[in-house]
Amino acid sequence: MTTPGCCLLVTTEFQASPDEAALLLQSHARRLADLGANLQPTGTHSYHLTLAGGGSATLAMTGPADARSRPAATRNLVLLVEDRGGTTPELLASVIRTAEEVGFTGTESAALHAQLPLTLGLAADYRAARPLAGIALIITGHFVTDLIPMVDAAIDLGVPADAITVLRKEYAYRMRRRIDASLADRGVAVFPVGKTIEGVRDHARRAAAKGLRCLAVDDGGYVLPALLTDAAEVLAAYIGVVEQTMSGIFKLEPFPELPLPVLTVAQSRLKGTIESNWIADAAIFNIMDLLPDEKVEGQPALVIGYGNIGAAIAAILRDRGMRVAVHDRDLVRLIAAHETGFTTGQHLPALLADHAPLLVIGTTGRTSMTAPHFLALRRDCFLASVSSRDTEFDLPRLAAAAVSVVDLGNIGYRYELPDQVDVTVLADGYPVNFHQADSVTKSHSDLICAALMLGACVLAHPRHGFADGHNVTRTDHVLEASGLLAHYYDLYGPHSTSPAIGRSLNPARYRPRPLGLPLPEILVEASP
Ligand SMILES: NC(=O)c1ccc[n+]([C@@H]2O[C@H](COP(=O)([O-])OP(=O)(O)OC[C@H]3O[C@@H](n4cnc5c(N)ncnc54)[C@H](O)[C@@H]3O)[C@@H](O)[C@H]2O)c1
Repeated sequence: MTTPGCCLLVTTEFQASPDEAALLLQSHARRLADLGANLQPTGTHSYHLTLAGGGSATLAMTGPADARSRPAATRNLVLLVEDRGGTTPELLASVIRTAEEVGFTGTESAALHAQLPLTLGLAADYRAARPLAGIALIITGHFVTDLIPMVDAAIDLGVPADAITVLRKEYAYRMRRRIDASLADRGVAVFPVGKTIEGVRDHARRAAAKGLRCLAVDDGGYVLPALLTDAAEVLAAYIGVVEQTMSGIFKLEPFPELPLPVLTVAQSRLKGTIESNWIADAAIFNIMDLLPDEKVEGQPALVIGYGNIGAAIAAILRDRGMRVAVHDRDLVRLIAAHETGFTTGQHLPALLADHAPLLVIGTTGRTSMTAPHFLALRRDCFLASVSSRDTEFDLPRLAAAAVSVVDLGNIGYRYELPDQVDVTVLADGYPVNFHQADSVTKSHSDLICAALMLGACVLAHPRHGFADGHNVTRTDHVLEASGLLAHYYDLYGPHSTSPAIGRSLNPARYRPRPLGLPLPEILVEASP
């Protein structure tokens, strides 16, 4: 926040046509006027604002000084606020937030849609059948840009926009405010995951008012545990859950009987086999981005958890010239790592002490390092998690063991342990691939987004045939019979003839192309 007498600059970059940019400046000026600011135009692209209490600000639409240094059609909404001490912090916060909350423009939305051809293609295929009409959809979402095309696909598939609720995870997403604004533009309700109970109740209330049944596309096991405990009174309004990540499956372990069907994309062959390499790549890219001054070649690294993601990470680190050790509590996985040529150890404190890693990456989905492990560290090192939430490293115990904790800004925190060992936890212990980033690119996440939407369409079908609880085999069947993988292989496989996807594509020429996928009805009836 500002300090009286100080200036604060907010710059929000986006891509827009000149007309879109002019409309955006006007709409933001109106929103600031609604907050009580007195606005005076100072040119065609700028306003002077006087705020209650004596603060003042300038709002302007600018272009980059060097247009070739930024993507084409880049504009900036710029707000320069001067706090003279009399304006309330609440008003200043609202003014600043208004400048940050820039929904995606038409130009940007077209580019985003073009990067998810499977998800939007599925929506185009099923648009006439509207398999999600009759459904109120609650989506737990990373606030990364693919969330918006996914919401748009749900609307195309028949869900009324005001019957969508998004539960927002609280990672340090780069585009968080812009995604908030884009969801608000569409009339979608948003609750932070910390308020899941209120979110699932409110969702059920809004669904009941419209005569809709509730369905969840969850990411990390938020919805069903809430429905089985504090929000049990609205459980009957929900008909099923599509879960996308293993940590969500772990969260269901304490509940022996699940009263709803779970379509488990998390445990599917499609996700487990294909996605892990992308996650590993994005995680390593971000770690190296956070540590540009570190020379990693020849240095020791340790990967904890040699599962789908851990194995891919260990391989990438070795390719980068690091000396990689691996620990896994499962002997089968440990032996697999050993026989792939990695240094391994069954006893984690001993491995930490002997291998003395510069970089430790945790990918267990559980809490892998706690007090005895921290005390076994022998040198300054970096810890990075790829698991969901911030529980891979027991941070309260690390803080308790530290003599001081230093805030390193966007990098994370440095915990200074006795005996001159500094442990820097990157991204505050949250999954590093999401830190100030979009994790994988949208053309990567497209396959999983499409699988989630397909899962929702199948569970919305009255004869879905999924039993209550986990349905691993049936999930695999539905996803693999859907044709999504064949289209993915057409797009990116050896005989790909499709136009370039993503940034290089001309979004103005992009139209969602139907894929010719079988309808959920056919998939459901063909399932074993
Ligand atoms: N960051 C992301 O974008 C992203 C995406 C998908 C999944 N995830 C997370 O990544 C985690 C790992 O995913 P995965 O597909 O590799 O899972 P996985 O089940 O294939 O691998 C986990 C491995 O960790 C091992 N393990 C578990 N607890 C351990 C412990 N305490 N000590 C040592 N080893 C332990 C298991 O034996 C297993 O081999 C998931 O649980 C999920 O939370 C993150």
